[in-house]
Amino acid sequence: MNTLPNGVHHIPGALDQDAQEALLEAIRAMVSEAPLFVPTMPRTGKPMSVRMTNCGPLGWLTDKEGGYRYQATHPETGRPWPAIPPALLAVWEKFAGYPHPPEACLVNYYDHTAKMGLHQDRDEREFAAPVVSVSLGDACLFRVGGRSRSGKTVSFRLESGDVVVLGGEGRMSFHGVDRIYPGSSTLLRNGGRINLTLRRVNPPNPG
Ligand code: SIN
Ligand code: FE2
Repeated sequence: MNTLPNGVHHIPGALDQDAQEALLEAIRAMVSEAPLFVPTMPRTGKPMSVRMTNCGPLGWLTDKEGGYRYQATHPETGRPWPAIPPALLAVWEKFAGYPHPPEACLVNYYDHTAKMGLHQDRDEREFAAPVVSVSLGDACLFRVGGRSRSGKTVSFRLESGDVVVLGGEGRMSFHGVDRIYPGSSTLLRNGGRINLTLRRVNPPNPG
């Protein structure tokens, strides 16, 4: 049993098989409207290994010219991002413990070779809200630490249907994905892993 950093919660099996399949259908519909794109690193333009898209009023992206940011439109189609599926809003309501809806849902697709380097989610303006993420498809090895990059980290497997919450003291925890376990789930016909990350970007309007 791993002891997780304060404010980091892992909820194994938060979504059962039916819920995972229903969510996947909603994601497929969304991705046909807002295709996956290859994000590139600020300045260097080096491509990330994941492919990404978003749903919600705002989407997170990165490219060589503009760097890390939120914007209301898809970088290639120029259209607004599709709405966050109700099933995902329900996950937020159940696990976020925050009284306002998420504004952004980042969709990351990992093929069997993709990874995500250790990073903090820090492009938002509202840190009172947690980050809530849902995993679908192949399992991954997830790594999470504290607020300093050099601090100690713990690693554990995230399986399809698991939820992770980074909230409170854990909101700024460094985290990343070291590897995918190919063939560990049959949910995605062609394999790979989808991670859905729900975030609040702006503080709620006063009043
Ligand atoms: C992320 O931090 O953007 C993704 C985390 C994950 O894939 O579980
Ligand atoms: Fe992240």
